[in-house]
Amino acid sequence: MKVIVTNDYEELSEKAFGIMADVVKANPSAVLGLATGTTPLGLYRRMIEDCRDKGTSYKGVKTVNLDEYAGLTAEDKQSYASFMRENLFSGLDIDLKNTYIENGVAADAEKECQRYNGLLDTLRQDIQLLGLGSNGHIAFNEPGTPFEAGVHVVKLAESTINDNSRLFERREDVPVSAYTMGPKNIMNAKKILILASGANKAQAVYGAVKGEITESLPASILQLHPDCTLIADKEAAALL
Ligand code: GLP
Repeated sequence: MKVIVTNDYEELSEKAFGIMADVVKANPSAVLGLATGTTPLGLYRRMIEDCRDKGTSYKGVKTVNLDEYAGLTAEDKQSYASFMRENLFSGLDIDLKNTYIENGVAADAEKECQRYNGLLDTLRQDIQLLGLGSNGHIAFNEPGTPFEAGVHVVKLAESTINDNSRLFERREDVPVSAYTMGPKNIMNAKKILILASGANKAQAVYGAVKGEITESLPASILQLHPDCTLIADKEAAALL
């Protein structure tokens, strides 16, 4: 795993943008695996500015998102589908029909997992962007998730519900389960870019980079990927 340590969040976002922009410029019909959370926001802002000011086009790009809360419609303000429209897609010239995410309100959860797995088989990510949970999760793969898991429904860890409750009015509003790409779908990407910012990620960053490769720390599987870059600001990299 290649590790880049930056002085601050802005530098982290700038470096991440450089890597993402290279993928899009090299292949205007690239498949981008995207992530939600606060960490990628600086990167997304730069992608929007670059599209608006420099004309980098996303008309041929397709995107696949990592995860979605179960029980929320794509129109729900708190859904990850809404997050992506609001924080990225609305600022790009991308066709929304080319942006894919799990359906949080599918009638049959198992069928929905099969559908999304099938879609990912046909849309292999040229790059997969990841954030990092404070407990070492990637997407919504909580500690203990089998490395060979594909798309599945997961019961969220208490620590994840606590972390994510800052984005909801009340803690009890945070959905308790979610659809997520599994480690297998993530590892299938040609390139992986994982971002971590802030002291609360330091332990997870250490485990991801230097710890034992174990299902107890899902991000540790990334050590086995042939082309994975982790960018951490100095607070997140403090234990390396
Ligand atoms: C959520 C998402 C993850 C994300 C993580 C970290 O649980 N499902 O994909 O990486 O939060 O979020 P943040 O970047 O806000 O710290």
